Amino acid sequence: MFNLILFGPPGSGKGTQSENLIEKYGLIHLSTGDLLRKEIANQTKLGLEAKSFMDKGQLVPDAVVIGMIGSALDANPQAKGFLFDGFPRTVAQAEALDSLLIGKGSEIAIVLALEVDREELVARLLNRGKSSGRSDDTNEDVIRARLVEYENKTAPVAGYYAGFGKVVYVKGVGTIEEIFHSLSRQIEARQLA
Ligand code: AP5
Repeated sequence: MFNLILFGPPGSGKGTQSENLIEKYGLIHLSTGDLLRKEIANQTKLGLEAKSFMDKGQLVPDAVVIGMIGSALDANPQAKGFLFDGFPRTVAQAEALDSLLIGKGSEIAIVLALEVDREELVARLLNRGKSSGRSDDTNEDVIRARLVEYENKTAPVAGYYAGFGKVVYVKGVGTIEEIFHSLSRQIEARQLA
């Protein structure tokens, strides 16, 4: 299996780049943000609980997202590999993911970390909020709260994987095609897929 984490702050282009990467490498896309928004749309108990955190720009509790990812891995036993987008977002989530993958005789091959500066992130998300209607994109205070959560709780995940020599930083500014080629080059240089 080839398992990849696409890492980076809110608005860095993880969702955008995931589309091309899953197609090129035949991976299953697991976005915890998308899974949570589906739960909200279906008005499940989990979705209602998650919405109260998401609307404030806060992370949903670890147990909730770890449970969702465990179910998604079990639901795809024949997968060639997974692209994790927006997960793991805490060191506890990273440790849980490693355990889940070890249980399947697999591991994370690489963490590709997109780098984009803060004001560009805010501008991109405010702009997306105009058309997508995503409730956590329409208010600049909520966007900035997400960026603070990222710095405090998610940025340390890169340090966790760097300890295993798995993190590669990629510039997340430029055209979508240029960034996709940079990401692909990193995968192919290591003959990972
Ligand atoms: P989630 O859905 O994961 O959102 P996010 O991390 O905030 O990331 P985004 O989807 O906002 O950004 P992205 O990096 O995918 O960028 P995109 O490609 O869309 O999470 C939402 C919430 O759910 C969290 O706040 C939290 O509450 C909860 N949650 C989710 N996972 C969780 C977890 N594991 N643990 C706990 N809570 C969790 O691009 C952004 C915009 O920029 C788009 O408009 C795009 O068109 C544009 N764009 C992309 N690339 C470029 C480019 N190269 N140049 C110019 N514009 C670009």
